[in-house]
Amino acid sequence: GAQPPADALGRPLRDLRISVTDRCNFRCGYCMPKQVFDKHHQFLPHADLLGFEEITRLARVFARLGVEKLRLTGGEPTLRRGLESLIAMLATVRTPDGRPLDLTLTTNGSTLAKKAAGLRAAGLNRLTVSLDGLDDAVFQRMNDVGFPVADVLAGIHAAQAAGLGPIKVNMVVQRGVNEDQILPMARHFRHSGIVLRFIEYMDVGTSNGWRMDQVLPSRELQRRIAAEWPLAPLSASAPGETAERWAYADGGGEVGFISSVTQAFCGDCNRARLSTEGRLYTCLFANRGHDLRALLRGPETVSDEQLAGAIAGVWTRRDDRYSQLRGTAAATAEPRVEMHYIGG
Ligand code: GTP
Ligand code: 5AD
Ligand code: SF4
Ligand code: SF4
Repeated sequence: GAQPPADALGRPLRDLRISVTDRCNFRCGYCMPKQVFDKHHQFLPHADLLGFEEITRLARVFARLGVEKLRLTGGEPTLRRGLESLIAMLATVRTPDGRPLDLTLTTNGSTLAKKAAGLRAAGLNRLTVSLDGLDDAVFQRMNDVGFPVADVLAGIHAAQAAGLGPIKVNMVVQRGVNEDQILPMARHFRHSGIVLRFIEYMDVGTSNGWRMDQVLPSRELQRRIAAEWPLAPLSASAPGETAERWAYADGGGEVGFISSVTQAFCGDCNRARLSTEGRLYTCLFANRGHDLRALLRGPETVSDEQLAGAIAGVWTRRDDRYSQLRGTAAATAEPRVEMHYIGG
Protein backbone atom coordinates (compact mmCIF):
# COMPACT_ATOMS: atom_id res chain seq x y z
CA GLY A 1 0.00 0.00 0.00
CA ALA A 2 2.92 2.39 -0.62
CA GLN A 3 2.47 5.72 -2.40
CA PRO A 4 2.99 5.42 -6.22
CA PRO A 5 6.57 6.55 -6.87
CA ALA A 6 7.65 9.64 -8.83
CA ASP A 7 10.98 9.58 -10.64
CA ALA A 8 14.01 11.77 -9.95
CA LEU A 9 12.47 14.54 -12.07
CA GLY A 10 9.07 14.31 -10.35
CA ARG A 11 7.34 12.34 -13.11
CA PRO A 12 4.76 9.68 -12.15
CA LEU A 13 4.53 6.22 -13.74
CA ARG A 14 1.31 6.00 -15.79
CA ASP A 15 1.95 4.19 -19.01
CA LEU A 16 3.47 0.75 -19.64
CA ARG A 17 4.46 -0.24 -23.18
CA ILE A 18 4.90 -3.99 -23.45
CA SER A 19 6.80 -5.47 -26.39
CA VAL A 20 5.48 -8.98 -27.07
CA THR A 21 7.74 -10.01 -29.94
CA ASP A 22 10.94 -8.77 -31.58
CA ARG A 23 9.79 -10.09 -34.96
CA CYS A 24 8.09 -8.20 -37.75
CA ASN A 25 6.88 -9.02 -41.26
CA PHE A 26 7.90 -5.53 -42.46
CA ARG A 27 11.39 -4.12 -42.89
CA CYS A 28 10.83 -0.37 -42.53
CA GLY A 29 14.18 1.29 -43.18
CA TYR A 30 13.82 3.53 -40.11
CA CYS A 31 13.29 0.58 -37.78
CA MET A 32 14.47 -2.82 -39.11
CA PRO A 33 16.49 -2.13 -42.27
CA LYS A 34 16.86 -5.24 -44.45
CA GLN A 35 20.64 -5.03 -44.58
CA VAL A 36 20.76 -5.52 -40.79
CA PHE A 37 17.66 -7.65 -40.21
CA ASP A 38 18.34 -10.22 -42.94
CA LYS A 39 18.02 -14.01 -42.88
CA HIS A 40 21.06 -14.27 -40.65
CA HIS A 41 19.58 -12.10 -37.93
CA GLN A 42 19.00 -14.05 -34.72
CA PHE A 43 15.62 -13.29 -33.20
CA LEU A 44 14.98 -14.21 -29.59
CA PRO A 45 14.31 -17.90 -28.94
CA HIS A 46 10.84 -18.57 -27.55
CA ALA A 47 12.09 -19.53 -24.10
CA ASP A 48 13.57 -16.07 -23.66
CA LEU A 49 10.25 -14.28 -24.20
CA LEU A 50 8.15 -13.44 -21.19
CA GLY A 51 5.17 -15.79 -21.02
CA PHE A 52 1.60 -14.52 -20.76
CA GLU A 53 1.42 -15.33 -17.02
CA GLU A 54 4.66 -13.43 -16.45
CA ILE A 55 3.49 -10.40 -18.44
CA THR A 56 0.14 -10.34 -16.66
CA ARG A 57 1.76 -10.65 -13.25
CA LEU A 58 4.06 -7.72 -14.03
CA ALA A 59 1.14 -5.68 -15.39
CA ARG A 60 -0.69 -6.19 -12.07
CA VAL A 61 2.35 -5.01 -10.17
CA PHE A 62 2.74 -1.98 -12.46
CA ALA A 63 -0.94 -1.15 -11.93
CA ARG A 64 -0.29 -1.01 -8.17
CA LEU A 65 2.45 1.50 -8.87
CA GLY A 66 0.15 3.86 -10.80
CA VAL A 67 0.06 2.51 -14.36
CA GLU A 68 -3.32 3.16 -16.02
CA LYS A 69 -2.57 2.38 -19.64
CA LEU A 70 -1.06 -0.71 -21.27
CA ARG A 71 0.12 -0.59 -24.86
CA LEU A 72 1.20 -3.77 -26.62
CA THR A 73 3.97 -3.29 -29.17
CA GLY A 74 6.61 -5.34 -30.94
CA GLY A 75 8.11 -5.76 -33.49
CA GLU A 76 4.66 -6.52 -34.83
CA PRO A 77 2.59 -7.54 -31.78
CA THR A 78 -0.08 -9.43 -33.74
CA LEU A 79 2.60 -11.95 -34.80
CA ARG A 80 2.81 -13.23 -31.22
CA ARG A 81 0.93 -16.50 -31.14
CA GLY A 82 -2.14 -16.43 -28.92
CA LEU A 83 -2.07 -12.66 -28.45
CA GLU A 84 -5.85 -12.72 -27.92
CA SER A 85 -5.38 -14.81 -24.76
CA LEU A 86 -2.86 -12.33 -23.42
CA ILE A 87 -5.30 -9.48 -24.08
CA ALA A 88 -8.05 -11.36 -22.25
CA MET A 89 -5.70 -11.83 -19.28
CA LEU A 90 -4.62 -8.18 -19.26
CA ALA A 91 -8.25 -7.08 -19.44
CA THR A 92 -8.68 -8.45 -15.91
CA VAL A 93 -6.00 -6.15 -14.41
CA ARG A 94 -7.38 -3.36 -12.19
CA THR A 95 -6.07 -0.12 -10.71
CA PRO A 96 -5.93 -0.01 -6.89
CA ASP A 97 -9.35 1.66 -6.91
CA GLY A 98 -10.82 -1.04 -9.12
CA ARG A 99 -10.85 0.43 -12.63
CA PRO A 100 -9.78 -1.57 -15.70
CA LEU A 101 -6.72 -0.24 -17.52
CA ASP A 102 -6.83 1.36 -20.94
CA LEU A 103 -5.69 -1.52 -23.14
CA THR A 104 -4.35 -0.68 -26.58
CA LEU A 105 -1.95 -1.83 -29.27
CA THR A 106 0.30 -0.38 -31.98
CA THR A 107 0.33 -2.48 -35.17
CA ASN A 108 1.42 -2.22 -38.79
CA GLY A 109 -2.13 -3.27 -39.70
CA SER A 110 -1.09 -6.18 -41.92
CA THR A 111 -3.04 -8.80 -39.99
CA LEU A 112 -6.04 -6.72 -38.91
CA ALA A 113 -8.40 -7.70 -41.70
CA LYS A 114 -8.19 -11.19 -40.22
CA LYS A 115 -7.65 -10.39 -36.54
CA ALA A 116 -9.46 -7.16 -35.60
CA ALA A 117 -12.72 -8.76 -34.49
CA GLY A 118 -10.93 -11.32 -32.32
CA LEU A 119 -8.77 -8.67 -30.67
CA ARG A 120 -11.87 -6.64 -29.84
CA ALA A 121 -13.67 -9.70 -28.50
CA ALA A 122 -10.69 -10.47 -26.28
CA GLY A 123 -10.98 -7.05 -24.63
CA LEU A 124 -8.77 -4.65 -26.57
CA ASN A 125 -10.13 -1.09 -26.16
CA ARG A 126 -8.54 0.79 -29.02
CA LEU A 127 -5.68 0.63 -31.49
CA THR A 128 -3.11 2.55 -33.48
CA VAL A 129 -2.07 1.58 -36.99
CA SER A 130 1.19 2.66 -38.62
CA LEU A 131 0.86 3.74 -42.25
CA ASP A 132 3.45 5.89 -44.01
CA GLY A 133 1.68 6.74 -47.27
CA LEU A 134 -1.20 6.05 -49.63
CA ASP A 135 0.83 5.59 -52.78
CA ASP A 136 1.79 1.95 -53.25
CA ALA A 137 5.21 2.68 -54.72
CA VAL A 138 6.13 4.88 -51.75
CA PHE A 139 4.63 2.59 -49.10
CA GLN A 140 6.15 -0.57 -50.54
CA ARG A 141 9.55 1.07 -50.73
CA MET A 142 9.18 1.98 -47.05
CA ASN A 143 7.94 -1.37 -45.73
CA ASP A 144 10.47 -3.01 -48.08
CA VAL A 145 8.51 -6.27 -48.35
CA GLY A 146 6.05 -5.21 -51.05
CA PHE A 147 3.09 -4.97 -48.70
CA PRO A 148 0.18 -3.14 -50.39
CA VAL A 149 -1.56 -0.06 -48.97
CA ALA A 150 -4.99 -1.54 -49.73
CA ASP A 151 -4.48 -4.38 -47.26
CA VAL A 152 -3.61 -1.97 -44.43
CA LEU A 153 -6.66 0.17 -45.28
CA ALA A 154 -8.80 -2.98 -45.24
CA GLY A 155 -7.35 -3.74 -41.80
CA ILE A 156 -8.24 -0.26 -40.55
CA HIS A 157 -11.79 -0.70 -41.82
CA ALA A 158 -12.05 -4.10 -40.15
CA ALA A 159 -10.92 -2.51 -36.88
CA GLN A 160 -13.53 0.24 -37.19
CA ALA A 161 -16.21 -2.31 -38.03
CA ALA A 162 -15.21 -4.36 -34.98
CA GLY A 163 -15.85 -1.34 -32.77
CA LEU A 164 -12.20 -0.69 -31.92
CA GLY A 165 -12.07 3.01 -31.49
CA PRO A 166 -11.02 5.75 -31.55
CA ILE A 167 -8.43 4.53 -34.08
CA LYS A 168 -5.21 6.45 -34.65
CA VAL A 169 -2.93 6.25 -37.66
CA ASN A 170 0.81 6.94 -37.23
CA MET A 171 2.83 8.23 -40.18
CA VAL A 172 6.61 8.53 -39.80
CA VAL A 173 7.74 11.34 -42.10
CA GLN A 174 11.13 11.22 -43.80
CA ARG A 175 12.20 14.12 -45.92
CA GLY A 176 12.59 13.10 -49.56
CA VAL A 177 11.08 9.66 -48.90
CA ASN A 178 7.38 10.16 -48.17
CA GLU A 179 6.90 13.89 -47.75
CA ASP A 180 4.72 13.90 -50.88
CA GLN A 181 2.28 11.71 -48.93
CA ILE A 182 1.58 14.27 -46.21
CA LEU A 183 -1.31 16.07 -47.92
CA PRO A 184 -2.84 12.92 -49.48
CA MET A 185 -2.81 11.24 -46.05
CA ALA A 186 -4.34 14.29 -44.37
CA ARG A 187 -7.03 14.48 -47.06
CA HIS A 188 -7.79 10.75 -46.80
CA PHE A 189 -8.26 10.71 -43.02
CA ARG A 190 -10.18 13.98 -42.67
CA HIS A 191 -13.82 13.37 -41.78
CA SER A 192 -13.09 9.68 -41.12
CA GLY A 193 -13.20 9.64 -37.33
CA ILE A 194 -9.60 8.44 -37.44
CA VAL A 195 -6.85 10.63 -35.94
CA LEU A 196 -3.79 10.89 -38.16
CA ARG A 197 -0.52 11.67 -36.36
CA PHE A 198 2.67 12.73 -38.08
CA ILE A 199 5.86 11.53 -36.41
CA GLU A 200 9.27 13.10 -36.79
CA TYR A 201 11.81 10.51 -37.87
CA MET A 202 13.81 9.66 -34.73
CA ASP A 203 17.34 8.45 -34.07
CA VAL A 204 16.21 5.29 -32.28
CA GLY A 205 18.59 2.36 -32.06
CA THR A 206 21.84 2.24 -33.94
CA SER A 207 20.99 0.59 -37.26
CA ASN A 208 18.76 3.03 -39.14
CA GLY A 209 21.51 5.44 -40.21
CA TRP A 210 19.51 8.41 -38.94
CA ARG A 211 20.47 11.84 -40.23
CA MET A 212 19.05 15.15 -39.07
CA ASP A 213 18.58 16.30 -42.66
CA GLN A 214 15.95 13.57 -43.13
CA VAL A 215 13.82 15.02 -40.33
CA LEU A 216 10.97 17.20 -41.46
CA PRO A 217 10.16 19.43 -38.45
CA SER A 218 6.51 19.28 -37.34
CA ARG A 219 6.24 23.07 -37.59
CA GLU A 220 6.92 22.82 -41.32
CA LEU A 221 4.41 19.98 -41.76
CA GLN A 222 1.81 21.90 -39.87
CA ARG A 223 2.39 24.93 -42.08
CA ARG A 224 1.90 22.83 -45.20
CA ILE A 225 -1.32 21.28 -43.88
CA ALA A 226 -2.74 24.54 -42.52
CA ALA A 227 -2.16 26.19 -45.90
CA GLU A 228 -4.67 23.72 -47.31
CA TRP A 229 -7.01 23.31 -44.32
CA PRO A 230 -6.74 25.85 -41.45
CA LEU A 231 -5.95 24.32 -38.05
CA ALA A 232 -6.91 25.30 -34.50
CA PRO A 233 -5.02 24.08 -31.40
CA LEU A 234 -6.59 21.53 -29.03
CA SER A 235 -5.53 21.00 -25.44
CA ALA A 236 -3.77 17.79 -24.41
CA SER A 237 -6.19 14.99 -23.59
CA ALA A 238 -3.82 13.37 -21.09
CA PRO A 239 -0.75 14.65 -19.20
CA GLY A 240 2.53 13.49 -20.71
CA GLU A 241 0.98 12.84 -24.12
CA THR A 242 3.33 12.33 -27.08
CA ALA A 243 1.25 14.21 -29.65
CA GLU A 244 0.38 17.85 -29.95
CA ARG A 245 -3.27 17.92 -31.05
CA TRP A 246 -4.87 20.19 -33.63
CA ALA A 247 -8.38 20.37 -35.10
CA TYR A 248 -9.33 21.15 -38.68
CA ALA A 249 -11.17 24.44 -38.38
CA ASP A 250 -13.84 23.23 -40.81
CA GLY A 251 -14.84 20.31 -38.57
CA GLY A 252 -12.80 17.72 -40.49
CA GLY A 253 -11.57 16.15 -37.26
CA GLU A 254 -8.24 16.03 -35.47
CA VAL A 255 -4.56 15.66 -36.45
CA GLY A 256 -1.52 15.23 -34.23
CA PHE A 257 2.19 15.94 -34.40
CA ILE A 258 4.77 13.89 -32.50
CA SER A 259 7.91 15.98 -32.41
CA SER A 260 10.48 14.16 -30.36
CA VAL A 261 13.33 15.75 -32.33
CA THR A 262 12.34 19.43 -32.58
CA GLN A 263 10.08 19.78 -29.50
CA ALA A 264 11.09 17.19 -26.91
CA PHE A 265 8.31 16.03 -24.60
CA CYS A 266 10.43 14.47 -21.84
CA GLY A 267 9.22 17.03 -19.28
CA ASP A 268 6.25 14.94 -18.21
CA CYS A 269 7.14 11.59 -19.77
CA ASN A 270 5.38 8.92 -17.71
CA ARG A 271 6.17 5.90 -19.90
CA ALA A 272 7.96 2.71 -18.88
CA ARG A 273 8.84 0.01 -21.38
CA LEU A 274 9.01 -3.73 -20.91
CA SER A 275 11.07 -5.51 -23.56
CA THR A 276 10.18 -8.84 -25.12
CA GLU A 277 12.55 -10.64 -22.76
CA GLY A 278 11.41 -8.82 -19.68
CA ARG A 279 13.80 -5.94 -19.28
CA LEU A 280 12.48 -2.69 -17.91
CA TYR A 281 13.59 0.41 -19.83
CA THR A 282 12.93 3.87 -18.45
CA CYS A 283 13.45 5.62 -21.81
CA LEU A 284 13.05 4.78 -25.49
CA PHE A 285 16.69 5.71 -25.90
CA ALA A 286 18.03 3.92 -22.86
CA ASN A 287 21.27 2.03 -23.12
CA ARG A 288 20.31 -0.86 -20.87
CA GLY A 289 17.29 -2.24 -19.11
CA HIS A 290 16.69 -3.77 -15.72
CA ASP A 291 16.21 -7.51 -15.84
CA LEU A 292 12.78 -8.25 -14.33
CA ARG A 293 12.66 -11.73 -15.86
CA ALA A 294 15.62 -12.73 -13.69
CA LEU A 295 13.54 -11.80 -10.65
CA LEU A 296 10.49 -13.69 -11.94
CA ARG A 297 12.45 -16.83 -12.80
CA GLY A 298 15.24 -16.51 -10.28
CA PRO A 299 16.22 -19.25 -7.86
CA GLU A 300 14.35 -17.50 -5.05
CA THR A 301 10.62 -16.88 -5.20
CA VAL A 302 9.78 -13.20 -5.14
CA SER A 303 6.50 -11.83 -3.89
CA ASP A 304 4.51 -9.16 -5.72
CA GLU A 305 5.59 -6.76 -2.94
CA GLN A 306 9.23 -7.46 -3.72
CA LEU A 307 8.63 -6.99 -7.44
CA ALA A 308 6.83 -3.71 -6.78
CA GLY A 309 9.73 -2.61 -4.58
CA ALA A 310 12.28 -3.40 -7.29
CA ILE A 311 10.32 -1.55 -9.99
CA ALA A 312 9.64 1.41 -7.71
CA GLY A 313 13.36 1.56 -6.96
CA VAL A 314 14.24 1.75 -10.66
CA TRP A 315 11.55 4.35 -11.32
CA THR A 316 12.55 6.50 -8.34
CA ARG A 317 16.08 6.79 -9.69
CA ARG A 318 14.96 7.53 -13.26
CA ASP A 319 16.36 10.74 -14.71
CA ASP A 320 16.14 10.00 -18.47
CA ARG A 321 15.34 12.83 -20.84
CA TYR A 322 17.14 11.80 -23.98
CA SER A 323 15.22 13.96 -26.45
CA GLN A 324 15.99 17.05 -24.44
CA LEU A 325 19.68 16.18 -24.41
CA ARG A 326 19.83 15.01 -28.02
CA GLY A 327 23.03 16.10 -29.72
CA THR A 328 24.90 16.74 -26.48
CA ALA A 329 27.79 14.59 -25.32
CA ALA A 330 25.62 13.11 -22.55
CA ALA A 331 23.17 11.79 -25.14
CA THR A 332 25.64 10.34 -27.62
CA ALA A 333 27.96 8.58 -25.17
CA GLU A 334 26.27 5.17 -25.15
CA PRO A 335 24.60 2.91 -27.73
CA ARG A 336 20.79 2.83 -27.65
CA VAL A 337 18.38 -0.08 -27.48
CA GLU A 338 16.93 -1.18 -30.82
CA MET A 339 13.39 -0.06 -31.64
CA HIS A 340 12.05 -3.45 -32.80
CA TYR A 341 12.97 -4.91 -29.43
CA ILE A 342 11.51 -2.15 -27.28
CA GLY A 343 8.48 -1.36 -29.45
CA GLY A 344 8.84 2.37 -29.96
P1 GTP B 1 -1.43 7.28 -27.55
O1 GTP B 1 -1.78 6.52 -26.33
O2 GTP B 1 -2.46 7.06 -28.58
O3 GTP B 1 -1.13 8.70 -27.31
O4 GTP B 1 -0.13 6.57 -28.16
P2 GTP B 1 1.40 6.93 -28.12
O5 GTP B 1 1.65 8.11 -28.97
O6 GTP B 1 1.81 7.00 -26.69
O7 GTP B 1 2.05 5.62 -28.76
P3 GTP B 1 2.39 5.16 -30.25
O8 GTP B 1 2.80 3.73 -30.15
O9 GTP B 1 1.29 5.49 -31.16
O10 GTP B 1 3.68 6.00 -30.62
C1 GTP B 1 3.67 7.10 -31.47
C2 GTP B 1 5.09 7.54 -31.76
O11 GTP B 1 5.62 8.20 -30.63
C3 GTP B 1 6.07 6.42 -32.13
O12 GTP B 1 6.99 6.87 -33.10
C4 GTP B 1 6.76 6.18 -30.82
O13 GTP B 1 8.03 5.62 -31.03
C5 GTP B 1 6.83 7.58 -30.27
N1 GTP B 1 6.90 7.58 -28.83
C6 GTP B 1 6.03 7.00 -27.96
N2 GTP B 1 6.40 7.23 -26.72
C7 GTP B 1 7.53 7.97 -26.79
C8 GTP B 1 8.41 8.49 -25.82
O14 GTP B 1 8.23 8.35 -24.62
N3 GTP B 1 9.50 9.19 -26.29
C9 GTP B 1 9.73 9.38 -27.59
N4 GTP B 1 10.80 10.08 -27.92
N5 GTP B 1 8.93 8.89 -28.54
C10 GTP B 1 7.86 8.18 -28.13
N1 5AD C 1 11.25 7.30 -35.82
C1 5AD C 1 9.96 7.60 -35.53
N2 5AD C 1 9.00 6.67 -35.37
C2 5AD C 1 9.35 5.39 -35.53
N3 5AD C 1 8.62 4.27 -35.47
C3 5AD C 1 9.45 3.22 -35.71
N4 5AD C 1 10.71 3.65 -35.94
C4 5AD C 1 10.66 5.01 -35.84
C5 5AD C 1 11.64 6.03 -35.98
N5 5AD C 1 12.92 5.76 -36.28
C6 5AD C 1 7.18 4.24 -35.21
C7 5AD C 1 6.39 3.23 -35.99
C8 5AD C 1 5.17 3.02 -35.11
C9 5AD C 1 5.61 3.44 -33.74
C10 5AD C 1 5.49 2.44 -32.67
O1 5AD C 1 6.95 3.86 -33.88
O2 5AD C 1 6.00 3.65 -37.24
O3 5AD C 1 4.09 3.81 -35.52
FE1 SF4 D 1 7.85 -3.52 -38.21
FE2 SF4 D 1 6.75 -1.36 -37.09
FE3 SF4 D 1 9.40 -1.61 -37.21
FE4 SF4 D 1 8.03 -1.19 -39.45
S1 SF4 D 1 8.18 0.22 -37.69
S2 SF4 D 1 9.69 -2.70 -39.17
S3 SF4 D 1 6.16 -2.31 -39.06
S4 SF4 D 1 8.02 -2.91 -36.04
FE1 SF4 E 1 10.44 9.80 -22.35
FE2 SF4 E 1 12.92 9.19 -23.09
FE3 SF4 E 1 11.05 9.79 -24.89
FE4 SF4 E 1 12.05 11.70 -23.32
S1 SF4 E 1 13.16 10.53 -24.87
S2 SF4 E 1 9.91 11.39 -23.84
S3 SF4 E 1 12.33 10.53 -21.42
S4 SF4 E 1 11.07 8.02 -23.51
